[in-house]
Amino acid sequence: MLLTDKVCLITGAASLRGIGRATAKLFAQHGAKVVILDLDAGQAEAAAREIGEGHLGLACNVTDKAACQAAADEVVSRLGRIDVLVNNAGITQPLKFMEIEPGNYDAVLDVNLRGTLYMSQAVVPQMRKQKSGSIVCMSSVSAQRGGGIFGGPHYSAAKGGVLGLGKAMARELGPDTVRVNSITPGLIQTDITAGKLTDELKGEIARGIPLGRLGVADDVANACLFLASDLSSYITGAVIDVNGGMLIH
Ligand SMILES: NC(=O)c1ccc[n+]([C@@H]2O[C@H](COP(=O)([O-])OP(=O)(O)OC[C@H]3O[C@@H](n4cnc5c(N)ncnc54)[C@H](O)[C@@H]3O)[C@@H](O)[C@H]2O)c1
Repeated sequence: MLLTDKVCLITGAASLRGIGRATAKLFAQHGAKVVILDLDAGQAEAAAREIGEGHLGLACNVTDKAACQAAADEVVSRLGRIDVLVNNAGITQPLKFMEIEPGNYDAVLDVNLRGTLYMSQAVVPQMRKQKSGSIVCMSSVSAQRGGGIFGGPHYSAAKGGVLGLGKAMARELGPDTVRVNSITPGLIQTDITAGKLTDELKGEIARGIPLGRLGVADDVANACLFLASDLSSYITGAVIDVNGGMLIH
């Protein structure tokens, strides 16, 4: 048990086959009190019930600063503390550079990057008070290799922004023992691609991966567990690749 009684918030964790949901399950198995945050209250509550007793599901649109603050306040009033935040909520769009309209840019940058900022700002005062905390930010291999798998250039830009934000937060929050690290998953089989990734393309991508397969949500959940727990107590500002060797650099 690596997270006994730790209060762990995970954004975008209601999606059934998603990375957030897999992380929530794993954290619960390790003794955490998990708070699932997602757009729809009913889905967040159902996801929390599904992982067992004592967990919470709350509606929280991470692009809304007031909603992030309200969620953090409710967690502190009901569970007394905040130990871990996984900034997992994200959306992507398979657009070419010249196809990106202002609305596409806003949607993708807002959820992935602005959401990471707002949710982190909502939990940091409590973590500072406790003089401890771990924040995990979900970036993507797309930030490192310039996309080219599914998400468009605006997704690469947003995820690149997440890496910079996470590193700057690590530097500033280190003196309060609040650690901030990022994960860069490769292609993970979830519903984020909304069925738009063909089996043919998946096969082609798998042939270019040294470990010979696409990733599954648990692959990323395991990295989240490491970064959330005290196993990584001297690690901050790091970027952990979970990509099967798709990008070795
Ligand atoms: N699946 C991949 O191949 C892959 C690769 C690299 C990075 N990622 C990143 O991993 C994270 C999880 O992705 P996934 O594949 O599990 O996707 P998913 O679509 O299964 O889950 C994303 C979740 O985010 C939620 N969400 C969307 N907008 C939100 C908002 N404004 N506020 C709160 N919640 C919101 C959705 O409702 C959903 O539950 C994302 O940040 C994604 O960009 C995924």
